[in-house]
Amino acid sequence: MRKPEPRLQRKLLAWLLGPLAVLLVLDTAAAYWNAQRFSNLAYDRALLEIAREIVLHVRIEGGRPRLNLSEAAGNVLLLDQEDLLFYRVVADDGAVLGGDVGMPQPPQMPRSAKPQFYADAVREHPVRMMLAWMPVNTGTAAPLVRVQVAETLRKRSRFAWEMVANVVLPQLLLIVMATAVVWFGISRGLAPLQRLRHAVSDRSHLDLSPIDTHDVPGEVRPLVDEVNQLMSRLGRTFDFQNRFVADAAHQLKTPVSGLKAQIELALRENDVERVRHSLAQLYISADRLSRLVRQLLSLARNEPGALDAMQLQPLDLNAYALEVSMDWVPEAIKRHIDLGFEGGEHALMIDADRDRLRELINNLIDNAIRYSQSGGRVTVRTGGSGADQCRLSISDDGPAIPVQERERIFERFHRLLGTQEDGSGLGLAIVSEIATLHRARITLEEDTDGVGNTFSVFFPLRAG
Ligand SMILES: Nc1ncnc2c1ncn2[C@@H]1O[C@H](COP(=O)(O)OP(=O)(O)O)[C@@H](O)[C@H]1O
Ligand SMILES: [Mg+2]
Repeated sequence: MRKPEPRLQRKLLAWLLGPLAVLLVLDTAAAYWNAQRFSNLAYDRALLEIAREIVLHVRIEGGRPRLNLSEAAGNVLLLDQEDLLFYRVVADDGAVLGGDVGMPQPPQMPRSAKPQFYADAVREHPVRMMLAWMPVNTGTAAPLVRVQVAETLRKRSRFAWEMVANVVLPQLLLIVMATAVVWFGISRGLAPLQRLRHAVSDRSHLDLSPIDTHDVPGEVRPLVDEVNQLMSRLGRTFDFQNRFVADAAHQLKTPVSGLKAQIELALRENDVERVRHSLAQLYISADRLSRLVRQLLSLARNEPGALDAMQLQPLDLNAYALEVSMDWVPEAIKRHIDLGFEGGEHALMIDADRDRLRELINNLIDNAIRYSQSGGRVTVRTGGSGADQCRLSISDDGPAIPVQERERIFERFHRLLGTQEDGSGLGLAIVSEIATLHRARITLEEDTDGVGNTFSVFFPLRAG
């Protein structure tokens, strides 16, 4: 299963806060580096001062420098609230003149060099070390001594951290405030989406009216428009289905109550002969009813969505139409109808679902036979029509269907007023759906001789 997408609000916030956090870390590092530089600058000067003070106590005695610094004076000089201070004075020739024995050996350094400051350690204390050549204060040709002064880092790092805090804390505060503002802003910005969600979730499943788009954000509007269009299509399908079910129920009601009435009547009969007669009537009614049910099922089966269930196979329309027509000969004879077939010599190959195509032809011939007068003529014709089509037509010489009815008779349950024959009005609806499934087109015209009707179905010829 795919992980659900994180909510937009979280995502936006993460995008905003992630880079800010990285910036803050970088900024803190830069601030710390800077702060250390400043605190060294400030405190290094003090180390230099101390070195100068110490050198003041160096005298030349017997041609050699000597350090005359009493312990008390030294302590005063090196007194500090926070940090430990160490010093050492070394003569030109390397002899130690005084100071702390724990001092590390200083690196080589030319006499002309400026005082140097660097990190070092004294008795395991990390320190800032100052190293300088300094003249002994005796006027002319003063010899130089090397002075080291070291100081532990407490003060410096406190100072540095204080500076960092001064820079970073306001930034942190700013980020927290920005987060709050952005969170609030995003929540407000996304509120229309929440409303949209409720508008959909609060809906009854029967309510397919369009969703109100007036305060929907522009980015989401195309989506809502699509959903609205889908709902309106669904709505039409629903309406259609509802109407169909209602119509079907209505159509079934009449024959079923007819059946019941006939049965009641038969039950009251004592005479066997009359009961038998009633049963025969009942049989006819039941037959009619079962035909209606079959047609309803057929309609449901041939819905436009049924395309997947089609079993298309190559078929010769010429031969198949003849075969189906032959089945109608007995019925035609019974009704004194002259049923004829006029087919071409060539096979007309189309892709068709045999059962459905049979149903289509059956319905058209059935209508033609039933709605013509006795003694009439019904002709089934097949033939080519243009380069890529072929035609199946069924003509009768019964009463012509009025022009204004020619479309409507293909609707479900629609029958012409005054039609004597019984029927459901479903036959042509089924024909039309089956034709659609075969990508065929139906036309209805008066017959060529001006009497009766010709129903023609144009099928696309099989390619190749
Ligand atoms: N060949 C025809 N000649 C005259 N009227 C026809 C013909 N075919 C169909 N109709 C009219 O169209 C109506 C609808 O036909 P159909 O859908 O097959 O339903 P049904 O045959 O069950 O009435 C028929 O009731 C009839 O009035
Ligand atoms: Mg019919």
